[in-house]
Order: sequence, then C-alpha cells, then structure tokens
Amino acid sequence: MSLSQSEEQALIDAAFAAARGAYAPYSDYPVGAALLFDDGAVITGCNVENASYGLSLCAETVAVAKAFEAGRRGGLKAVAVVGLKADRDPITPCGRCRQVLNEVAALGGTDPLVLCVSAEDVRRVSLSALLPHAFGPGHLG
Ligand code: THU
Repeated sequence: MSLSQSEEQALIDAAFAAARGAYAPYSDYPVGAALLFDDGAVITGCNVENASYGLSLCAETVAVAKAFEAGRRGGLKAVAVVGLKADRDPITPCGRCRQVLNEVAALGGTDPLVLCVSAEDVRRVSLSALLPHAFGPGHLG
C-alpha cells in the first residue's frame, strides 16, 4: 500500500494538528495520530494523559476509538503518527497501539501503511511488519 506525496503530506499534517490538542503534562511528549480510510475520510487522535500515569491513552488508541464510534469497521488504508518532541528518530506506535490498530485493519482485511514521523524523517512501514503474526478477530472464529 502506498500513498501519493500529497495524500501522505495531508495525513501527516492532520496528525500534527491532532498532536497540538494533546494533553500530555506528565511526559511533555505530545503525540498525534491520523487514520486514513479507503473513502478518503481521516480520523485523528491525540494522547490524553492522566494523573494516575498508567491510565494514559495513546494517540493511536484515541483515534481508533473515535473511528469505531463513527461506525468504521475496516477500510483502514494508512496511519500517520507524529511526536512533537521527535526531532531525529521517528516515533513508532507502541506495542499496545499496534494491536489496537490491527483490530480495525483486520476487520477490513487491509495491511495499512504506517508513516512514522519525526521533524527530520518519515519511516514508511506496513502494520504487518510492525506486528507480525498478529492475534486478531479471525482467531476467535
Ligand atoms: N504515546 C502515544 O500516544 N503513542 C505511542 O505509540 C507511543 C507513546 C504517548 C503516551 C504518553 O502520553 C507519551 O506518548 C509518552 O510515552
């Protein structure tokens, strides 16, 4: 799966805009995620931290929750993840977020492109490369 340069830039811009809404007073590490669906819709999320640190929500998880709430059950084409403090090394989705993203991808049988973004770089990798041999809804019959 690949995107045109303008599609890619629009998705990254949406993730940066989402990151600016992050609530990250504890880590001071604002993150934004943008999900692109096969009909062109983009759904975003930001990280939402909590005084009880372990209850913090990652940007990708918030975006996936919003996507389900909007009725999405598949059709996930690409994801952009940005960290406002990621200067050199691109941020990559944490393990839990990979699994959460896999749920919506697996429902539609897609293997989304994940754009991992820093100020200086964009790393392009498939979700299946980030999460090989994923456990998904298909395992439950
Ligand atoms: N974070 C995300 O939002 N997504 C990830 O995939 C990695 C980490 C957030 C969680 C926490 O609010 C902050 O980044 C620092 O770990």
